[in-house]
Amino acid sequence: MENKSIVSIEQCSREDILRILRHAARFEERPNRRLLEGKVAATLFFEPSTRTRLSFETAVNRLGGQVIGFQDASTTSSSKGETLKDTIRMVSNYADLIIIRHYLEGAARYASEVTHIPVINAGDGANQHPSQTLLDLYSIQKTQGKLTDLVITIVGDLKYGRTVHSLIAGSSHFRPTFRFVAPEELKMPDEQKHYCDKQNIPYTEHTEFTEEIINQTDILYMTRVQRERFTDTEEYERVKNVYILKKDMLRHSRDKLCILHPLPRVNEIAYDVDESPKAYFIQQARNGLFTRQAIICEVLGINHLI
Ligand code: CP
Repeated sequence: MENKSIVSIEQCSREDILRILRHAARFEERPNRRLLEGKVAATLFFEPSTRTRLSFETAVNRLGGQVIGFQDASTTSSSKGETLKDTIRMVSNYADLIIIRHYLEGAARYASEVTHIPVINAGDGANQHPSQTLLDLYSIQKTQGKLTDLVITIVGDLKYGRTVHSLIAGSSHFRPTFRFVAPEELKMPDEQKHYCDKQNIPYTEHTEFTEEIINQTDILYMTRVQRERFTDTEEYERVKNVYILKKDMLRHSRDKLCILHPLPRVNEIAYDVDESPKAYFIQQARNGLFTRQAIICEVLGINHLI
């Protein structure tokens, strides 16, 4: 990888992705290694998180490194008016790596431009969530035995969903076919559709979430309608319960169908689905630990030791 930061999944070539997934598999076999001894990682979370922050921090701890950082920016000097640039430059005095989640699109890229240490984007607004995509691809490879020629149906908030936008770009190396299921208000943005057109990736768009679509699907990627991205509360209320996956909708689905969700879920996957062997979203979050161990080693240039 040319750039030592990962701020966007587009930076990762097919080879980069396959290498990170190979390394993630090695970490899954043996997660406790002392590869980060003497290193400090800073987790700067300007937006809430459960999985991303805790799995990154666990990844560092299991590799023998130390973690500093915050999960509530209101307790930091940014609440006194300190700029992101100054915060990043200060943290660069103390840490070897920055893992940042921010509500502004482009914040991680900007952070990477004002520091000499690697930056990992842990989600920037509605833009990108590259480490999520790598763990999604790891989960797809584990459940399907391959990454290529799969029908991926993405359901829910396709407009604001940063995991969705990253997944499209990350999957583009592997000849996917996409089905996009969203209400009019949350349709896939033109930018992502133009991207698919340019890459010759076939896709269809739907407003109804039907069993017929599920039955033609290999990977069913459910997403939450994100209240925090709406400026109009009435619009959120109109679409918040638009699609709910229930167990009986899986009756005629493919044997190897895999149901993914970046989580958190609200009500878009009914709890009876959890009983299905096709529900993989809890293991998917577990895969985040191994994938993030691989990502950290990649940006720190120590992947030859894995
Ligand atoms: N998938 C994901 O980003 O989850 P968190 O918001 O809990 O980190």
